Amino acid sequence: MSAPRPLIAGNWKMNGLAAALEEAKAVAAAVKASDPARVALCPPATLIERMGRVLAGSAVELGGQDCRAEAAGAYTGDVSAAMLADAGASLVILGHSERRAGYGESDALVAAKAEAALGAGLKPIICVGETLAEREGGKTLAVVEAQVRGSTPAVLAGTDFAIAYEPVWAIGTGLTPTLEQIVEVHALIRRVLGEAGAKAPILYGGSVKPSNASEILGLPEVGGALVGGASLKAADFLAIIAGA
Ligand code: PGA
Repeated sequence: MSAPRPLIAGNWKMNGLAAALEEAKAVAAAVKASDPARVALCPPATLIERMGRVLAGSAVELGGQDCRAEAAGAYTGDVSAAMLADAGASLVILGHSERRAGYGESDALVAAKAEAALGAGLKPIICVGETLAEREGGKTLAVVEAQVRGSTPAVLAGTDFAIAYEPVWAIGTGLTPTLEQIVEVHALIRRVLGEAGAKAPILYGGSVKPSNASEILGLPEVGGALVGGASLKAADFLAIIAGA
């Protein structure tokens, strides 16, 4: 059985105006369906539809960065999973630490969002990861195990979803765990997912850049990367993709 293709997803966060679509255009032109890695870009909601037009016919998938668990209603400022799908997205990042920390998102809420995403035909990328205090307190494995168990509803079993291990202290800081630490956490996540998530890729995220991508992507049970800052420029993002 050949190994599944790694998924390299770019998370633009709250970055990007129309001019940034040139970067997506350059990524779309360079990525081929026959490449070793699957590639996705997750722009802010305002750019999803326009980026979809840029990526049309290319091998690059399109994703959102969050969605509401409810299908519709009086939730000012939010978008639903169906809205993301309607705008052209095929996947969605959920439970990013910036949402867990900034908006108090719980594991149960992330699980409800994942269920909504799946119901709308979106592939969820569910993020987990420990804070620096949790790492220093020796709690990493317990924290990550609880997050994976709590954020993956039973309905995900056997579906096309992904987990992203993103240590909070490694996001946007230039710091990364040791390779041994990454392997340890990914092995734990694989065990926790069990049969239900046997095919789910486990991405690493947190200061992935061209200079460290290939060694991280070569580790056991690292099935791709979730890339923030280095996904904003096509040249950097393509260099990371080339490391897969
Ligand atoms: P970073 O962000 O690559 O800028 O560290 C990763 C993420 O938050 O998904």
